[in-house]
Amino acid sequence: MNNIVLCGFMGCGKSSVGRLVAKRLGLEFIDTDDLCEKREGMSIPEMFERMGEDGFRDAEYRACAEVASVSGKVIATGGGALTFERNKALFKNDTVVFLNASFDEIEKRIGGKGGRPLFKDINKAKELYISRIEHYLSAADIIINSDKTADEVATELIDRLP
Ligand code: S3P
Repeated sequence: MNNIVLCGFMGCGKSSVGRLVAKRLGLEFIDTDDLCEKREGMSIPEMFERMGEDGFRDAEYRACAEVASVSGKVIATGGGALTFERNKALFKNDTVVFLNASFDEIEKRIGGKGGRPLFKDINKAKELYISRIEHYLSAADIIINSDKTADEVATELIDRLP
C-alpha cells in the first residue's frame, strides 16, 4: 500500500486529521515537522533562526525523503513542503490529499498563536496562502474542504481513498 500524504496550509488540519485517519485504518502516523525537529535536534522556530528558511527547507526535504522511502503510512507534511517540486516528486507514487481550509477558518484556528515563523504577520500569511493554493492543487490526488471538524474530514478522506 502506498502512503497517504496530507498537504495544505498551516492550520488546515493535517496533523489532527492524519492522526485520526491512521488510527481508524490501523496505520502508523508520521509528521514530517516532528521528524525534522527530531533529526535536527531543535525546534522549527530555532531552525528558521539559526539556519534561515533555506536551511529549514533542506532539513524538511531530508525528512520528506526519509518518510517517502516507507510505505503504508499516514504522513502529515509541513505547510510549505508540497509547494516545492523536489518534495512533490518524492511522493509521486503516494495518495496525496489536499486539505483545503478557507483563510478565515485558518485565522480562527491559529491566528495569534505563536510557534509558526511564517504566520506572524496576518497580511503576509494571507499572501502566502493565496500563492500556495495552485501548488497544493497540482500535488493533490484528492481535495477535501477542511472547514469542518477533524472527525468529519477524516471520515470523508477514508471514503474517498482509491
Ligand atoms: C510551514 C508550516 C509549518 C512548518 C514551518 C513552515 C510553512 O508546518 O513546517 O513552520 O511553510 O507553511 P504546519 O503546516 O504543520 O504548521
